[in-house]
Amino acid sequence: MIDEKIQLLLDIYKQSLPADWRISPPKSNLKKDYLSFLQELEQLRGRSLIYPYMGSGKGAGVYVELLDGSIKMDLLGGVGVQILGHTHPELQKTILKAALSNIFMQGHLLLNKEYLTLSRKLVSLAQKHSRLKHVWLTTSGSMANENALKMARQKNHSRRKILAFDRAFAGRSTLMSEITSNPKIKEGLPSYDEVLRIPFYDPQNPGKSLKILKSHLKKEGDNISAFIFEIIIGEGGYKSAPRDFFISLFEECRKYKIALWADEIQTFLRTGTFFAFEKWDLAKYIDLCTVGKGLQLAATFFIEEYKPRPGLVSGTFSASTPALAAGFKVLEILEKDYIGKTGKIATIEKEFINLFKELKEKHLIKDYDVFGLMAAFSLPDASRENTQNFLKKLFKNGVIGLICGRSIFRVRFLIPAIIKKEEIKELKEILLKTFSDEK
Ligand SMILES: Cc1ncc(COP(=O)(O)O)c(C=O)c1O
Repeated sequence: MIDEKIQLLLDIYKQSLPADWRISPPKSNLKKDYLSFLQELEQLRGRSLIYPYMGSGKGAGVYVELLDGSIKMDLLGGVGVQILGHTHPELQKTILKAALSNIFMQGHLLLNKEYLTLSRKLVSLAQKHSRLKHVWLTTSGSMANENALKMARQKNHSRRKILAFDRAFAGRSTLMSEITSNPKIKEGLPSYDEVLRIPFYDPQNPGKSLKILKSHLKKEGDNISAFIFEIIIGEGGYKSAPRDFFISLFEECRKYKIALWADEIQTFLRTGTFFAFEKWDLAKYIDLCTVGKGLQLAATFFIEEYKPRPGLVSGTFSASTPALAAGFKVLEILEKDYIGKTGKIATIEKEFINLFKELKEKHLIKDYDVFGLMAAFSLPDASRENTQNFLKKLFKNGVIGLICGRSIFRVRFLIPAIIKKEEIKELKEILLKTFSDEK
C-alpha cells in the first residue's frame, strides 16, 4: 500500500518536471532573482561560490536544473556524491520510504534497522577480498579519516607520525588539513609536524618514493602509526601507479608494523570494482579503509587488530535515515549492472578513453587519464589560471567539471554511472565548442 502511494506521488511529481531534459541557458525572467540569491549567499557565507551554482531541486540523470532556469550536464555531482545522477527513480522511492521513519537522523545511540542493513552489506563487500571485518559509519569523509587515524594511533600507541603522499588530499578537519599537502587549504594554520611526505609515483624516477620512504623509516620508523594513501590521487591530479609501486612501499611499512590505510573516499564505487584496492589487487595489505561520497555517507573499515576500544569513536550523527537507505540502494544498483569487467562502468571508461584519445590526436588536450568514472585531462597550457578559465567557459556552455592537480592542473569529471552514449557525444560537442571559444 505504502509502496503504491509512493509511486503515485512520484508519478505526480514527474509531471512537474520538464519533459525534455537538455542543456539550456538561463531564463531571462529568472536572472535578476538568481543573481541576488547568489549575492545574498556570498554575504551569508562570507565567500562566493566557485561556480554560480544553486540548484532548483530538479534534475534527471546527468542533467540538473539551476534556479536561473538553466540546465547543465553535471559531471561533478558534488565531487562524486551523485554517482547515480539526479532523481534516479529507484533511489527516489527508497528515500521517500525511508523519510517516513520515526527518526530522521541516526547515530550511535539512536539507530534503526537501516544502519544494520547497510553495515552488513558494506562488510560483506569488503570481506570478499580483504581482511576488513568491521565498519564504522559517519557523516563525512574527513570524520571517517579522523576515526581511522584514531584507530591506528590507539593500536600503535605513542607513535605520533603519519606517512602521506605529497599530493594527498585527506579532508579539512584540523588534522586532515595537515595531511592534505595543498598549502592553499591550510593557509595561516599552524603546522603540527606530524606528517612525513613521500613523493607520489613518478614514471621518470620510479624508485624515488621508496628511497625517501626508507630514509623516513630509518629515522622515525618506530614513531609512525599509519600510512594514508590514495590509489588514484584525486585532488592531486587523477594519477595512479602500478601495483608493484604500492607493494614496494607497503612491504617496507609492514616491517615497522605501520597501519596501511587506503583513503578511498573518492575512489570507492568508481573504478569498476567496489574498492580500488580490488582492481589494483592490493586487498591483502589493507588494514584500514575509508569511503564516502557516492555512498551518501562515510565509513571507516578496519581489521580485527585495529578495533577501537570503547569511547574512542562515536558521535551524535552517523547519517540520516534516507541517506542510510539510499547508501544501501546505491550498492545494490551498482552491484547488479555496473560493477565488474562487463559492467556499465567498464563501458563508460572505454567511451571516455576514446573521446580523450580523439581530443589528444587533435592536439586539443595534452594528456589524459581515465579510471572508471574518474576522468581527467590537461590542457596544452596546464596552468591553474588557464584550466580554471576553461572550466568557467565549460560551465557557461553547460557542463560542470572541476579542477585538480598541483603545478600541472587538470580538468576532471566525476561521471555519473547512468550517463548514456548520446550524452557522451553531447559532451564532446560542448568540449569542442569550448576549445574553439578559447581561440
Ligand atoms: C581522497 C579524499 N579524502 C578525504 C576527503 C574528505 O571528504 P569530505 O569532504 O566528505 O570530508 C575527500 C573529499 O574530497 C577526498 O577526495
